[in-house]
Amino acid sequence: MRPTPPSFSRADFGPDFVWGAATAAYQIEGAHQTDGRGPSIWDTFTHGPAWSRARENGDIACDFYHRYESDLQVLREMGFRAFRFSISWSRIFPEGTGRINEAGLAFYDQLIDTCLRLGIEPWVTLYHWDLPQALEAKGGWTNRAVIRWFSEFVDCCTKAFGHKVKHWMVMNEPLVFTAGGYFAGIHAPGRRGPWNFLPAVHHVAICQGEGGRIVRRNVPNARIGTTLFCAPIDPHTPAPRDVRAAARIDALGNRLFIEPSLGLGYPVQEAPLLKQILTKYAKLGDLQRATFDFDFIGLQNYFRLVVRHDWFTPYVWAREVKPRQRRVAEITAMDWEVYPEGLYRVIRQFSQYEKVRDIVITENGAAFPDRLQDGRVHDPQRVNYYQQYLQQVLRAKREGFRVSGYFAWSLMDNFEWAEGYRPRFGLVYVDYPTQQRIIKASGHWFRDFLSA
Ligand code: NOJ
Repeated sequence: MRPTPPSFSRADFGPDFVWGAATAAYQIEGAHQTDGRGPSIWDTFTHGPAWSRARENGDIACDFYHRYESDLQVLREMGFRAFRFSISWSRIFPEGTGRINEAGLAFYDQLIDTCLRLGIEPWVTLYHWDLPQALEAKGGWTNRAVIRWFSEFVDCCTKAFGHKVKHWMVMNEPLVFTAGGYFAGIHAPGRRGPWNFLPAVHHVAICQGEGGRIVRRNVPNARIGTTLFCAPIDPHTPAPRDVRAAARIDALGNRLFIEPSLGLGYPVQEAPLLKQILTKYAKLGDLQRATFDFDFIGLQNYFRLVVRHDWFTPYVWAREVKPRQRRVAEITAMDWEVYPEGLYRVIRQFSQYEKVRDIVITENGAAFPDRLQDGRVHDPQRVNYYQQYLQQVLRAKREGFRVSGYFAWSLMDNFEWAEGYRPRFGLVYVDYPTQQRIIKASGHWFRDFLSA
C-alpha cells in the first residue's frame, strides 16, 4: 500500500504546537538491578509463575539506561523537540518510601540535562505503572497509605527536577493499570476482582489530585497534566440494553478518572458498581482531594470500542465486539481497529467538560509487523496511520477545540507489557539482540513533515 501524501503541513498546526515522542521507564530502560534500583511490580510479575512469556521482561529492554544520549539524538534527528518519559519510582526509592537512592536521581538528572542540551523539552510522567514491589507487599494501590507514599515520591522528584522540568504529568492511564492490574489480573501485580479494583481506583484518584497539588507547590511555573486512556464507545446495536452497556463502558473507560479530578465525583449513575467506592472506601473530604485544576489533560487514543450487553461478564455486564468479528477495514498487530475519526471524537468528548482547559495528545500510534530488510524498515501502514490520525487532530483544531501538542507512541520499539516484545510501536526499530536502532520509514516521514 502506498500512502497518499497528506493534504496538511506542520504549519497548519501553528507555531506553538508541541511535537514529541513518548516512552515509559519500564518499557525502555532495562538496567533493572543497576545502581541500586529496587524491584517494581513489573519485575516481580514478569519473573513470577503466572507469566507465560519466558525471558520477555524489562530486565534489559532497550537498554535506554545506558543509551539515552544516542537515543535522544535520534529523536532530535526526526525533528521532535519534546520527549515524554517516566520516572521509575523504585530507582529513586528502592523500598518505595524512606531511603532515597542518589544514583537513581543522578540518572534522571543527567537524562534531563541531555534533553536540555539537545534542545529537547522534557515532559515527565510521574507514574507509568511501575509501583515499587516493596509497596505492593503492603497492599499496593489498595492500601490507603499509598497516598502518603506517592506524595513522598512526587515531592522528591519535583524538588529535585522542578528547576529544569516544566511539564509534568501525574498519572499514565490510571484506568488501564487499575483495571489490568487489580481487576482482570493481566497486568502487574496480577490481582483480580472489584474488592481490589475499587479501592485502587479511589486511591489513584486521590493521588492524581494530591500529586497535582504537590507539583504546583514545588514548581510554581509548571504546566501540569495527567494522561488518560480514552476511546469512543459505540453500541453494537441500537437496542436499549446495548446502548446502556455502551454508556456503562463509557463511564468506566472514559469518565472514571477525569470526572473526580474535575470535582464531578464518580459516574455512579451509569456505572452503579462505583457506588461501592463511596460506601466502602471513601472518607469525608476524599472527593475534594481528588480534585485538581490541571493545566492540560493528556489524551491517549488508539482505537474505538464497540460493545454489547452481556449477562456472562460479571460487574460490567458488557463485552466488546472485537474488530475481527466486525470485519473492520484495517487492524493493527494488537488487534485494534484503525479508526482515525476516534481521535477527533475523544477530543470533542473531553472538550465538553467546561473545566478542561487544554488537551495534549500524549500518546497515539500503532504496532504493525515490521521487518528489517537490507538495513531498512518499510512501514507504509504506520505512515498512513499517523497521517490519518493527525488529519483528525487538525480537524478538531480547525473546529476550535483546544489541542496544543501531539506525542507519537513510541520513540522506539519496546516492551509492550502483557504482550511482550512482539508488537512494535516504534518510529525507530530496535534490533534487540544487538540493540541497534534503525529509523523506520515512518520516522523518516516525521522528519520530513516536521522540517518542512
Ligand atoms: C498505553 C500505555 O501508556 C503505553 O505504556 C503502551 O505501551 C501503549 N499505550 C500501547 O499499548
